[in-house]
Amino acid sequence: MAAYLAWGGESTQDMFRKILAASWLFSLGLLAAPAAGIAQTSQLAATPPMGWNSWNHFAGKVSDSDVRGAADALVSSGMRDAGYIYVNIDDTWQGERDAKGVIHANSKFPNMKALADYVHSKGLKIGIYSSPGPKTCAKYEGSYGHEEQDAKTYAEWGMDYLKYDLCSFRDVMKQQTGDEHSEKAFEMQKAAYEKMHKALLATGRPIVYSLCQYGWNDVWKWGPEVGGNLWRTTGDINDHYNRMEQIGFSQAGLAKYAGPGHWNDPDMLEVGNGGMTDDEYRQHMTLWVILAAPLLAGNDLSKMSPQTLAILTNKDVIAVDQDTLGKQGDRVWAEGPTEIWAKPLSDGAKAVALFNRAPDPKSITLKLSDVGFGANAKMRDLWTGKDVTATNGAYTVLIPKHGTVLLKVSQ
Ligand code: GLA
Repeated sequence: MAAYLAWGGESTQDMFRKILAASWLFSLGLLAAPAAGIAQTSQLAATPPMGWNSWNHFAGKVSDSDVRGAADALVSSGMRDAGYIYVNIDDTWQGERDAKGVIHANSKFPNMKALADYVHSKGLKIGIYSSPGPKTCAKYEGSYGHEEQDAKTYAEWGMDYLKYDLCSFRDVMKQQTGDEHSEKAFEMQKAAYEKMHKALLATGRPIVYSLCQYGWNDVWKWGPEVGGNLWRTTGDINDHYNRMEQIGFSQAGLAKYAGPGHWNDPDMLEVGNGGMTDDEYRQHMTLWVILAAPLLAGNDLSKMSPQTLAILTNKDVIAVDQDTLGKQGDRVWAEGPTEIWAKPLSDGAKAVALFNRAPDPKSITLKLSDVGFGANAKMRDLWTGKDVTATNGAYTVLIPKHGTVLLKVSQ
């Protein structure tokens, strides 16, 4: 904006017109706001980030060729066009620092800049991972004491996303305060996250900032303050129904903390990793879209079954997650292992999910009045693509073990 005003040689009227146009672009979120901190969080991740992350499948083995392979597969499978844009390298890429303290990748990643260029050439964005502590969770080099330098390096490589994982910063907090759960430790943690946010801003490159500290200290209450575009709300997911279910359904009550630019993150997807049935993966995906969660696929994209691809790329289901209203859904009804959750959408409709968490089939009845609709509301089943009808304002459906029905309800 300052540079804009500094332009010379134009009439006051012209200038005024341009300022008006600029403020209009602003309101659409298309131009950087002058308060850089706010700009970073409100424009980046206007809807929950979507993409792929290396950890859930490749873990410590991830290499340059796996990341290129993931980028290729995002394009050839149609996932990129369905919205999966970020290709995120998780832990274990780090090598040594040189004499000047500049971080270099290890031998698995011979040339980060070339890798980023490759990913960008596919119309995708690329992400990287570090820790505010001296070591990452997998004991690789962290950013402690090198925050500005690392942010600069990531920007020079062309990184668009940083996951910043607490890991050994817990030891730093313990050493300096005697107790990693103390009030002082909490202040230290906030400062550490804020420090990296400032370092990212200083690079001038828009970099989505993902906080990963497992939901400690109700991070959803202060995540935006330290610049987070998303923050993990729980410990790690794994590829078992019980863990996915425990994490996903524990998100009830957090809806008010999410919105455009700042999202609750119940961890990455396990869809397609082999430890759950397709019904369970559909429940996983449904719960995540109702939660307006980031959708970061965590499977080997080069070896996907048609069922996995169908679960990950159902356009109507993804649209629930990516709805521009940016409201997270919440539980509206529960009886034992059966639950109904609803998420308001920008067109006045609601996404309504019926979940069966039981190990046997259960019948669930949705009363349209429970989700704020009259008896003649329209309903579409988003997984089958078919319209369904209520009888006397209620819709009853038999749902298989660990199965789900996702409806779009509109008046
Ligand atoms: C932590 C994070 C995971 C993953 C690993 C990598 O456990 O929560 O998502 O990044 O570290 O070491």
